[in-house]
This record gives sequence, structure tokens and C-alpha cells, in this order.
Amino acid sequence: MYKVFLAASLIASSAALAVDQDILDKYNNSCVNCHATGVSGAPITHNDQHWAPRLEKGLSRLLISVLFGLNAMPAGGLCFNCSDSDYIALIKYMSNYPEPPPPPEEIEESNILLLLIGHKMKQSEP
Ligand code: HEC
Repeated sequence: MYKVFLAASLIASSAALAVDQDILDKYNNSCVNCHATGVSGAPITHNDQHWAPRLEKGLSRLLISVLFGLNAMPAGGLCFNCSDSDYIALIKYMSNYPEPPPPPEEIEESNILLLLIGHKMKQSEP
């Protein structure tokens, strides 16, 4: 019984890893440089232990961290052609993001516009 459950969850997690080639290319051109080995404390890609405390912040917060930068991570994570939805796909890929998302995410999403408006205003300052 336990083995059956294990196999089922392995299939589920490999399905969650299915990702566009375009997103993989973007990952391999930018995020990989720090997140493959964990440069300066970067959470290592697909390391659930590293990502658990990050995921607790909610996806919107994580997106904001990438857009603005966070400590040793430069704003944009060194991707110069990533859209916001690319970043979300990258974060989901790197963190083995659970699908469907956990319920608190829905509440968190309502804050994202306010945060993004702040980001755009900061960008347009002289
Ligand atoms: C120059 C190195 C570097 C690159 C390139 C980089 N990161 Fe990071 N990233 C870091 C570091 C270091 C941290 C940990 C920051 C901390 O918590 O102090 C981090 C943390 C994160 C976090 C967690 C943020 C949080 O709020 O906890 C996410 C999400 C993330 N990176 C996504 C990305 C994505 C997506 C890319 C590619 C577009 C990327 N990173 C590229 C260094 C990098």
C-alpha cells in the first residue's frame, strides 16, 4: 500500500515538473547560475527542503522578490527577456510548486496588483 502511494506521488511530482522548453531555456540562461548550486544561500532547484520556507510566503511574494531582487539576487534574476508569467513558471518549476495551489494563495493573489503597481511606479521614477 505504501509503495503504491509512493509511486503515485512520484508520478504526480514528475507531472508537476513538465515545463515548456522556452521556460527551460530561460532557466538555463539565468536562474541556473545561482540556483543549481545555491550560490550565496540561493534555494537549490527542486530541493523541497530549501523551498518549503519560501513557498510559505506565497507565490506573489516570491514573484516580487525576483522582480525587485533579494539580498544577493539581483532584480530580475539576470533574465532580461522574462515576463511576469515567465517568472511565475520559473518559480513553479524550481520549487516543485504543488498543483493545485494551496488555498492561502488565493488571498495572497489579491495583494499582487498593489505590489506590482508599486514596482512600476518605482521603475518610472527619474
Ligand atoms: C546571481 C545569483 C542569482 C540568480 C541569477 C537568480 N537568483 Fe534567485 N536567489 C538568489 C539568492 C542568493 C537567493 C536567496 C536570497 C535570500 O533569501 O537572501 C534567491 C532566492 C530566490 C527566490 C526566493 C525568494 C524569496 O522571497 O524567498 C526565488 C523565488 C528566486 N530566487 C527565483 C529566481 C528566478 C526565477 C531566477 C531566474 C530568473 C533567479 N532566482 C535567478 C540568487 C540568484
